[in-house]
Amino acid sequence: MDIREELSKRAKQFNKVMCSFLPKEEGMQKTIYAAMNYSLLAGGKRLRPILMEETYRMFSSVYETENERDVIESFMSAIEMIHTYSLVHDDLPAMDNDEYRRGKKTTHAVYGEAMGILAGDALLNYAFETAAFAFNKAPLNAKIVKAMQILSRKAGAYGMIGGQVVDIETENMEASCVSIERLEYIHLLKTAALIEASLMIGAILGGALEQDVKSLEQIGRKVGIAFQIQDDILDITGTMEVLGKPIGSDEKNNKVTYVTLVGLENAQKEVAKLSKEAVELMDGLSVQSDFLREVVLYLIHREK
Ligand code: IPE
Ligand code: IPE
Ligand code: MG
Ligand code: MG
Ligand code: MG
Repeated sequence: MDIREELSKRAKQFNKVMCSFLPKEEGMQKTIYAAMNYSLLAGGKRLRPILMEETYRMFSSVYETENERDVIESFMSAIEMIHTYSLVHDDLPAMDNDEYRRGKKTTHAVYGEAMGILAGDALLNYAFETAAFAFNKAPLNAKIVKAMQILSRKAGAYGMIGGQVVDIETENMEASCVSIERLEYIHLLKTAALIEASLMIGAILGGALEQDVKSLEQIGRKVGIAFQIQDDILDITGTMEVLGKPIGSDEKNNKVTYVTLVGLENAQKEVAKLSKEAVELMDGLSVQSDFLREVVLYLIHREK
């Protein structure tokens, strides 16, 4: 399997799915729909929905039935909407103050700051509306209830938002005052939480048992922390052309990162170590996926 090709194929398939959920740009408030669609369609790796779909495929025996497809597709779209809103807000002047994202001007740079805030709010709400479409196909389905609980918890103040809070409060702190534990805590919440949610929700909707869901949470934890360390590495070693977002954002905002604390080489070693540990944990799952293994190993050396 050529993992790059496979990822790009799955991202394209997902884009078609997500398009079917996009709001129509009409009515007096059409600016908000345009800003939502602008940020969602700017591109992106679509890693979270791809991971969700894979764990769903692993555990589901009825993958191809239409109702089941509708359920998983609404959650795949929802997690990408939540991730995209987190980026729209992360780029705002009050946060990282960045002008480019996914190769285009950031949402606030195009639509203004107020619309940037509102587009993020709208995407977050619309994500839950989209996930709730799943109930139209399968009312009273306990798996959907569980998936909703995970999605809301991992995206909220106990998860991604909580991580952004500690990230902001760590800005301007002296490197000597920032412990590795503190950085890991930030990564665990701001980045790993949504990756854990993706793996867990796919498995839950596919019918996985509790033990596998728990293992996937641990796998997501390691993959997510590694993913953020690599993001911090690329903020130094990458290029705007490849990344689609500015480099040097962390330094500009006086952020202490893994690279500041342990150096580039050790940070790279940590990414490889965590990713290999994640792959080892996959051996303990009751169902195996070569694709999942390859994605995690591919992410170690990703350039964007
Ligand atoms: C960027 O996420 C923010 C982080 C959590 C590091 P991605 O690197 O997945 O961004 P897109 O979705 O591909 O643009
Ligand atoms: C943000 O981390 C993670 C989010 C939850 C949005 P970064 O601030 O490092 O993400 P980028 O580099 O802007 O994508
Ligand atoms: Mg940030
Ligand atoms: Mg940022
Ligand atoms: Mg970054």
